Amino acid sequence: MNNQIKIDPQILIVSRTDKSGNIEYVNGDFCQISGYSADELMYKPHNIIRHPDMPAIIFKLMWERLKKNQDIFAVVKNLAKNGDYYWVTTHFEIRKHPYENRVVGYVAHRRAADAQLVNEISKLYAELLSIEKNKGLAESEAYLTQLLSDKKMTYDEYIDKMVIKDGFLKSMFKKIIGK
Ligand SMILES: Cc1cc2nc3c(=O)[nH]c(=O)nc-3n(C[C@H](O)[C@H](O)[C@H](O)COP(=O)(O)O)c2cc1C
Repeated sequence: MNNQIKIDPQILIVSRTDKSGNIEYVNGDFCQISGYSADELMYKPHNIIRHPDMPAIIFKLMWERLKKNQDIFAVVKNLAKNGDYYWVTTHFEIRKHPYENRVVGYVAHRRAADAQLVNEISKLYAELLSIEKNKGLAESEAYLTQLLSDKKMTYDEYIDKMVIKDGFLKSMFKKIIGK
């Protein structure tokens, strides 16, 4: 039986990758939660912690955004080494060279996703995954596009609405302005 790992809301789980998504850095909390040592993760593709319940469309959107040098938030279910799982709200961003104006890789900051958010998003992900299995990725993308169009929202607005409720953006903001 695989269990959900509870994450302290104060914890920030960080990883950095090269431009292909190979892990170059993980913080201590990443190791503690995932159950891997830093050595086990170093230079491995980041899909090492991919959970099979995650729909591919979410990663497609994420990569499309990063390749355009833009950031993106996503709610992600991750797989720990022992088969347990954990839900995180993740902010993916580009990393630039310190003085040359070029992208050298990417960074992700994650916080615990609360139960209400997980409840909502996991229903959507189950639907997207089922569409992907039965009809393919293009159909899953079409379903998501239609859902957002029905809600008259962009993906960012949809995520923002859920995530702000979840407190992630607020706590990031609090961290930045120190209030
Ligand atoms: C900075 C960064 C962090 C990532 N973090 C995760 C993560 O926590 N979990 C995950 O499943 N994929 C993460 N990915 C995406 C993976 O690289 C990969 O695209 C995804 O797991 C889907 O793998 P697949 O296309 O091989 O199925 C991250 C990518 C980047 C660039």
